Amino acid sequence: VILTQDELKKIAAYKAVEFVESGMVLGLGTGSTAKHAVDRIGDLLRQGKLTNIVGIPTSKKTQEQALSLGIPLSDLDSHPAIDLAIDGADEVDPHLNLVKGRGGSLLREKMVEGACKKFVCIVDESKLVKHLGGSGLALPVEVVPFCWKFTANKLQNLLERSGCVAKLRNDCEGKPFVTDNGNFIIDLYLKEELGDLQIASDAILRIAGVVEHGMFLDMATTVIVAGELGITIKNK
Ligand code: A5P
Repeated sequence: VILTQDELKKIAAYKAVEFVESGMVLGLGTGSTAKHAVDRIGDLLRQGKLTNIVGIPTSKKTQEQALSLGIPLSDLDSHPAIDLAIDGADEVDPHLNLVKGRGGSLLREKMVEGACKKFVCIVDESKLVKHLGGSGLALPVEVVPFCWKFTANKLQNLLERSGCVAKLRNDCEGKPFVTDNGNFIIDLYLKEELGDLQIASDAILRIAGVVEHGMFLDMATTVIVAGELGITIKNK
C-alpha cells in the first residue's frame, strides 16, 4: 500500500502523542500535521486515557480547534514552563534544525517551543532536506507592516550571496497575508545555501522591522519522520 502524505503526517502525529502523559502542560502546534496530534489529544482526553492536560496553542486556528475538542487551554503568561510541544515543520536538516512558518504562525510557535523542555517535531519524509532553504520553498520572516518594502529590501540585500528574492506573502484574495499578531510575512526564496545558519539568523534579527524568522535552530529535541518504510525517530 502506498500511503498518502496526509496519512504519513497522521502516523507521525499519533506517534508523538505517545509521549504525552496526564498532568502535562502541552504546546500545541499549527498546521496540517500538528492538527492530527491535537485531534488525537482530544480523543484521548474524551476517552479518559489522558487527564489534567493544559494546552498552550501556537495560533488562533489551533486555539479554535482545541476549544472545539474540549482541551483546557492557557497561555505562556500563566504557564511559562511547558513540558512538551508537538508541531510540524516545513524543512528538517540533518542536525534537526527546522524551517517553519509556511502556515504563518512562526512567532507564536517560536515563543512556545522555546519555552519547552521537549519539542517533538513531526513530519512526513518529504520535509527532510540537506540544507535549510534547499527545498525551493521559502524561508518566512514576520515583519511589522510599517514600510515593509524597506524591510524586504534589507533582507534581500543581506542574503544577496544566497541569491535571495524577497516577496510579500499574499492571502487568497491578493491582499497582504496578516499574521495572528497583525504583522506581514516576507518569504525569502534562496538559490544557494545560507552558510552559517546562526550567523544568518542573528543578522536577520538585527534588521529593525523584523519580528522573527522561521529558522528554528537547535530547538527540536526529537524529530519523528513518517515514511513509506515506517517511522524514524531522531533525537538530539
Ligand atoms: C505553521 O506556521 C508552520 O510552522 C507549520 O508548522 C509548518 O508549516 C508545517 O505545516 P504542515 O504540517 O501543514 O506541513
